[in-house]
Parts: sequence; structure tokens; C-alpha cells
Amino acid sequence: APVDATIPASRMAELLPSLPLETRCPPLPLNRYNGFWLPEAVLTDLAAIHARLRPRPSDIFLASFPKSGTTWLKALAFATANRARHPPSGTSQPLRRMNPHECVRFMEMDPELRHDADSLLEEFEELESPRVLGTHLPYCLLPDSIAGEGAVAAGRVVYVCRNPKDAFVSGLFFVKKVSSAYGAGADAGAQSLNLEEAFELFCEGRLFAGPQWKHVLQYWEASLRRPKQVLFLEYERMLRDPKATVKKLAEFMGCGFSKEEEGGVVDEIVKLCSLKELKNMEVNRSGGNQAGVRNEAYFRKGSSGDWRNHLTPDMAKKLDKIVEDALQGSGTER
Ligand code: A3P
Repeated sequence: APVDATIPASRMAELLPSLPLETRCPPLPLNRYNGFWLPEAVLTDLAAIHARLRPRPSDIFLASFPKSGTTWLKALAFATANRARHPPSGTSQPLRRMNPHECVRFMEMDPELRHDADSLLEEFEELESPRVLGTHLPYCLLPDSIAGEGAVAAGRVVYVCRNPKDAFVSGLFFVKKVSSAYGAGADAGAQSLNLEEAFELFCEGRLFAGPQWKHVLQYWEASLRRPKQVLFLEYERMLRDPKATVKKLAEFMGCGFSKEEEGGVVDEIVKLCSLKELKNMEVNRSGGNQAGVRNEAYFRKGSSGDWRNHLTPDMAKKLDKIVEDALQGSGTER
């Protein structure tokens, strides 16, 4: 049965020991809540986010299942929304000195998941409009102030979805790179996690924000119900036509490009946010956050179909079947 995401932290602390627990999923143990596996720190802060995040009509929330193109979407949306203040070709464009995750923060966590929700929410209040924030929360756990069906909701949501096999492979590489930032125990767990074990966990939905297909489906359905408020993007399509993506994104965010801009600014944004360009920036080659997560961990191959180099045909078949069964009848099959 659905549970209430707005219960206070103290009540959540009481509830946590009774929630299903998964500890084989480094870097952090996860609890299942409302059908999704999330770290304790995120669950504990849910109520504060629901109570204290005050969405503005101009807010843009970038949502994703982890390893589905979040970093790219953050860069594209940030560069697009702020192009008047910070021209994409300009040397002072913040993306040239800050990682996209610093330019666009996650609303439910900092990268280390060790934040204090109150100070994070205060920081968001101070951001200039249009604010762009990220989230890995499933749609069902977003505050009503964003996802409510009535007039109470404000802001717009852009979701990026990716082939689950690629998201899985990307996640495994990522977790091995960043887990040392979560302590020696987490690192040992991550380094000893083999592909087969991790794959089983993914198939059971027992990884951060999983099950992936359920995460995708909820946003997909929301995009059908509320097309003006929820835009659904696909990583693979973005790769095929980044320029069309940026135009669509700008229009959806309420800041469509003029004819003149289409001649140059769109290309500049695409170039600035390309994997090659971002990966080679000094901040992303040598920088990292305070907890020790290296920025370079967010940039790897950036391709479609890398799963073929890692999963056996049987593994692919198994995951395809799980996803197909779960999505049947939803209109997401192509
Ligand atoms: P791979 O590991 O398959 O290369 P997320 O940003 O959600 O954590 O997803 C990470 C994935 O997006 C990684 O995929 C990464 O290489 C890719 N990525 C990061 N920046 C990108 C960019 N600017 N363009 C395209 N893909 C990008």
C-alpha cells in the first residue's frame, strides 16, 4: 500500500527499522519505501523537502534514474536557462569552472548524502530564478507542490530515461570509482561486487532508486497526464540529435530560442555540454567534491549500447523480459 512521504523525520526514524533493508548494494545500504530502494539519508529528509521546498513557477526540476544522463541534462538545462546571464561561449560560463552537479544541485541530497536538509533547503531559497534543481526521487515521492495534479503544483519537470542495460553498466563502473568516498567498508563492498551479483540486484530493483523500469514508468505516465509540466526525454535520442533536444528543452522551460539564436547559440550550448568538452575541462579532470568523489567519475564513454561489451546475451534477455513485462500496456514499447 502507498505510504505517506510527508511523515516527519522522527517518525521516519521509528519506521526505518521495519522497512525492508538491502545491504549488498554499495556504496550505501538501502531501504524500500513506497516500492523504491533509497538510502536512509534521503528517506529521513523526505518530510523536510515536502514541507520546506517552495517551488516557484519558473523552477525546473531535472529528474532521472541514476546513470541515465543526469550530468548531461544538468549541463544542457543550466546552460540554456542561463544563456542571457552566462553566454555559452563566454569564458565566465560557470560550467567552465564548476562540475554540472555543482551548477545544478540535487534537491534531496548532496553527492555524499551526508547533508543537513535544512541548510540545503535554505540555500535553494537563495538561488536566483529560474532555479534548476536535480532529483533522483521517483515521481511518487515528489512533493505535491511539484507533482500535485491541481493548481497547487508549481515548476516543471524534465525526465531523462536511458536503456536500463546501459544504465546498469554505467552504474557499476561509477560505484567502483566513487565508493572510497563513502568509507573503507563501502569501498571494499564495491570493489568485491562482481558484475553477475550486481546484475541480479539490478534485476530485482535493489539498487539506488530502483526498480529502474518503475521509476521510468511513473515519469512516463506523468508526462502523458501533464504534458505541460513533465517532459520525457531519452538519452539515446539526445545522442542522435542533441540540437533538437536543446530546442525542445528550451521551449518546454519557457525560454525558446529566437531565430537568431538558432543560428549559433544552440550549437554553442551543444558543444559546451558535449562529453568531450566537459570531460576535458580542468575542473572535471582534476576536481572533486569535499567527500572525495572525483568529478571525472561522471564522464565515461557516453555512448549507446556499451552493455554489449559487458552483458551476456542471456543477461540482456533476462533484463529485457523483466522490463517488457513491467511496461506492458503502458504505451512505452516501441
Ligand atoms: P557511461 O558510463 O555509459 O559512459 P549520470 O550523469 O546520470 O550519472 O549518467 C552518467 C552517464 O552519462 C555516463 O555514461 C557518462 O559517460 C554519460 N555522460 C556524462 N556526461 C555526458 C555528456 N555531456 N554527454 C553524453 N553523455 C554523458
